[in-house]
Amino acid sequence: MCGIVGYVGELACGEVLLDGLSRLEYRGYDSAGIAIWDGESIRRVRAEGKLFNLDRRFRENPIEGSIGIGHTRWATHGAPVERNAHPHRVDDVVLVHNGIIENHTALRQELEAEGRVFESDTDTEVLAHLVARERAAGHDLLHAVRRATGHVRGSWAVVVLDAHSPDELVAARHASPLVIGLGSGENFAASDVPAILRHTRRMIFLEDGDTVRLTRTAVEITAEDGSRVERTPKAITWDPVAAEKQGYKHFMLKEIHEQGDRIVDTLRGRILLDEDEVTLPSLATLEGIVPSLRRIVILACGTSWHAGLVGRYAIGGLARLPVEVELASEFRYRNPVMDGETLAIAISQSGETADTLAAIEEAKRLGARTMTICNVMESSMTRAVEATLYTHAGPEIGVASTKAYTTQLSALLLLALWLGQLRGTIPAAERQATIRSLRALPRQIEEMLGDEALIREVGREYMHARSMLFLGRGNEFPTALEGALKLKEISYIHAEGYAAGEMKHGPIALIDEELPVVVVAPRNRLLEKTMSNLEEVRARGGRVIAVGDRSVSELERHADHVLHVPSTTEWVQPILSVIPLQLFAYAIADLRGTDVDQPRNLAKSVTVE
Ligand code: AGP
Repeated sequence: MCGIVGYVGELACGEVLLDGLSRLEYRGYDSAGIAIWDGESIRRVRAEGKLFNLDRRFRENPIEGSIGIGHTRWATHGAPVERNAHPHRVDDVVLVHNGIIENHTALRQELEAEGRVFESDTDTEVLAHLVARERAAGHDLLHAVRRATGHVRGSWAVVVLDAHSPDELVAARHASPLVIGLGSGENFAASDVPAILRHTRRMIFLEDGDTVRLTRTAVEITAEDGSRVERTPKAITWDPVAAEKQGYKHFMLKEIHEQGDRIVDTLRGRILLDEDEVTLPSLATLEGIVPSLRRIVILACGTSWHAGLVGRYAIGGLARLPVEVELASEFRYRNPVMDGETLAIAISQSGETADTLAAIEEAKRLGARTMTICNVMESSMTRAVEATLYTHAGPEIGVASTKAYTTQLSALLLLALWLGQLRGTIPAAERQATIRSLRALPRQIEEMLGDEALIREVGREYMHARSMLFLGRGNEFPTALEGALKLKEISYIHAEGYAAGEMKHGPIALIDEELPVVVVAPRNRLLEKTMSNLEEVRARGGRVIAVGDRSVSELERHADHVLHVPSTTEWVQPILSVIPLQLFAYAIADLRGTDVDQPRNLAKSVTVE
């Protein structure tokens, strides 16, 4: 996610901004910039790539001043190049923004029709033009920002500086975090605590709809309804390192907890609420081939491959298309059969996985149409295919994939609905129920995260296991595979995922009191079958950890532990079912003291064969 720092006070602003941005580097970014009032005008420095580049440019042309704004950009709209870097300048206004402006296209067209000229490809520049337009209409900066954001749909944390009122910053937030740091003769704005923690521990966490005016000596907050409000400052006790993880012990745990918000970001702008329909404008170039498509081949590795396995059920069920899910490392050497009536979908969080990149090139060579579901803007994968459906998980720092996985599942379900809409294969009731279930996810995830301590205690009981078996049926079989991968890659305990129906064809020989068995058993149409597998394990002295709906009474009777997962509709269920397994694996790894965020031998992106 992008990083924001704003400062007004007595210190040399450039140092405060660059230092603050450096403390947000962990959030991932691909360009950066600062803008400072130097007593006569606002001067701006931006650079592609790492902060080192910006720092060097700033040192070559230092800017003296004590009020300014800075930004590290994680590209979501527009390539990670200097002209798209923040701060954006329009007339005498400079602005930095975190978030996604859903209606940026329509607003850009409106502004261009008024004769406004854009420099960048970003959604953010639209906001800068809107603020400049309100300033030109005579509104003060705070009201200009309030009026400008009134035209916007989406999410924003913005900080604005205007050459016509260089003693103030105005900041606003809606669905994207923004914190105000209170100093003596100075005040700060930041997207995240670490950026300003060295200067102050007194912070105000703005609420959605808040707009705030900052000067050296005053912080004036206006709520969404226009009333002045007082927000109680909080004393931050975190140490700087902990603050980067927003108080979580590991990035992985932070990323598990933010899945609800990242799913909201991934769904944002893609569900037409009044028609309960899915819209995927970024796939417009593929729309024409959908009626003649004869099959889909998904290419991926690791967790992304598991996501593809889940997607196969949804695409097959909703769009009635045959789907093959291939390990990219196998596909590329298999001399596969493919043609122009095949859509090859590469799933990759990083967009840089060598095997998946090679596999998609092989698919192209064979004449297949191509797209990717990817989390990194302008990554190699997005350049290799015809169309990209981005997940908006933000940078995933923990090597073990969590929020990338659940946002991939969400994107795959959107794709399945979109394909089904175009092919006319989804009954309206099923489409509406599925979309409603997708929109209910954040609340359900929040409810499940409340079980973290309980799950930790179950993990404590099994932290010394030598091996574990994970079982699941239907679209929860991939959940079993993913749960096993999470456990083995961060706790170093051997674990194996298996189709529950396959247990009697071999693995049942393993069952004894030394082998914990995790059974993914949500309330779905296969529950009865899954319960019989669970009983088979118990009958042989095996210990069972069930992932299921606590309201299913027989679960409590037949399992040693139940990790609760609320029930939802069939295609959405795997997005919830995996969360207790993420927490289970995390708890055991943390209790075993492994390097959870950087497990041994693993890389976040496997860019070599
Ligand atoms: C999963 O936790 C691992 N990080 C790994 O399996 C990963 O999913 C795989 O390497 C694929 O990476 P990608 O999604 O970036 O292509």
